[in-house]
Amino acid sequence: MTKRPRGEGLTQSFEHALVLPTARVTEEAALAASRFMGLGDKNAVDGAGTEAMREVLNTLDIRGTVVIGEGEMDEAPMLYIGEQVGSGQYEVDIAVDPVEGTVVTAKGLPNGLAVIALSERGGLMHAPDCYMEKLIVPPPAAGRVNLDWPVEANLHVLAQALDRDVEDLMITILDRERHEGLIQRVRAAGARVKLIGDGDVVAGLAVGVRGTGVHALMGSGGAPEGVLSAAACKCLGAEIQGRFIAEDDAMRERFAAMGVDEHRIYKTADLAPGEQMVFSATGITYGELLSGVRRFAGGARTHTLVMGYATRVVRFLDSVHLEDDSARVTIRV
Ligand code: FBP
Repeated sequence: MTKRPRGEGLTQSFEHALVLPTARVTEEAALAASRFMGLGDKNAVDGAGTEAMREVLNTLDIRGTVVIGEGEMDEAPMLYIGEQVGSGQYEVDIAVDPVEGTVVTAKGLPNGLAVIALSERGGLMHAPDCYMEKLIVPPPAAGRVNLDWPVEANLHVLAQALDRDVEDLMITILDRERHEGLIQRVRAAGARVKLIGDGDVVAGLAVGVRGTGVHALMGSGGAPEGVLSAAACKCLGAEIQGRFIAEDDAMRERFAAMGVDEHRIYKTADLAPGEQMVFSATGITYGELLSGVRRFAGGARTHTLVMGYATRVVRFLDSVHLEDDSARVTIRV
């Protein structure tokens, strides 16, 4: 087995400098968005998360360009594609989703997430805002599955890689009409299906981490979310395979302009080719991998997964944020 060195010669790299500050970016976005959690207003949730994320990003030692963001410049007031953030030393490309799962967060349902990935320039694919057919598998199955194969074949290989029966697999799929056929086939092959309402980034993350009880993510979701998942897969050693879906000719033209091939399978390293990568996600509402923001008198507690690809450290941060000096706060273990 070849061993990838753990961040050798990287003391000057942005990963060393930026891992913990990046965690603060998603923590603050999650804290701000959580104020609107359960209030039924998805725009308020998104606005609060986006504003907080942008504010903290601007304090980082970066000169960053948003390559995956809240929309095109004329559609989004903040963190739009092409927006420059920060005036520091490290030149980075940034993929953000300040609130992944705006609807679930507004409804107080599981899997709301604040998420970001940073890489050196050119390290994250500039994906069009379309759907992507996705397959995410954990590290033991990386390099062994193929999006072109029938789903039954991939389930078979996945079960082998995880040393279990197909019946013992749990596959996460977004609960959408377009997935009816896929769901039937997965069930008919013997595997179980976990249907989720929203939030395929956190669902993909859960696949990459052992002990979460889910073994693959299948079906189509947002392509920008696919790039964020690729950054996470890269850090975790998991694999994503994705195919961009053009729903009409206008999108086909956009693909041509962006150099996207709708027939190609894009793998982890195609979607996130960077050699340095920082990924951070903070739970806003509860999920199988991350707790949501828990508020108490005078503060809040957050749960974050932050990691670097070159530095090869995966950190789960359980942080208490004291927001009110006057409150007599007792911190629990
Ligand atoms: P938002 O953050 O924009 O609410 O997206 C949530 C989400 O569920 C993503 O996780 C997923 O990739 C996408 O929407 C799926 O799109 P659709 O709801 O159109 O099926």
